[in-house]
Amino acid sequence: MLTIIEGLLTESEVGQMLQNLRDGAWADGSQTAGTRSIAVKQNQQMPVTSPLARELGNLILARLGRCPQFVSASLAEKIFPPVFNLYQNGGHYGCHVDSALMRVPDADVTIRSDLSATLFLSSPDSYEGGELVIETEYGAQEVKLDAGDMVLYPSNSLHQVMPVTKGKRVCAITWIQSAVADSSARAMLYDMDQSIQALSAGKSKTDPDVERLIHVYHNLLRRWATV
Ligand code: NI
Repeated sequence: MLTIIEGLLTESEVGQMLQNLRDGAWADGSQTAGTRSIAVKQNQQMPVTSPLARELGNLILARLGRCPQFVSASLAEKIFPPVFNLYQNGGHYGCHVDSALMRVPDADVTIRSDLSATLFLSSPDSYEGGELVIETEYGAQEVKLDAGDMVLYPSNSLHQVMPVTKGKRVCAITWIQSAVADSSARAMLYDMDQSIQALSAGKSKTDPDVERLIHVYHNLLRRWATV
């Protein structure tokens, strides 16, 4: 399941972030690729431990924590510090799968990647190419979103970033360990929560039918979550 979160950051926040990143010290992205993916990764990356990446990454993490759609879709338990990438001059990232276990730099924490996320920062009309192509059970899906929008997709999907043939594509990516590792269980909980939100709109806070659905939701979550 792909989940699109629109407007995670406002236009002015994105503009400020891009301006800060423009002056940052980008490094060759292949330094952080796994041994398999190093051959297919051609981009630049802001070092994860740089103060700039930390500061901007924390802003994204704070926003994610307050985004009901993200919380509901991810049931996030741990989130990797966001990584900022730059693709230009034909830069691309060929077909690969993200590592299952990721050690957080400078911290004694390892994250199991259940979900991968890409937050688009460059306006889609400012660059050519650069589509994120994700293999799903229904075939390959191309994703190229407005600046400030995020896509969430299962980390076990094969995916690639197509060559950026004109302009610059800046994005932030991160990985999420979910309290519910089973993606089909997580998808059912998300659907149920979305329906509960829709059904409860305009109803009394003590509506018994909505209450019963919330009760079932939490009991399923209790059954499936590991924390
Ligand atoms: Ni990837």
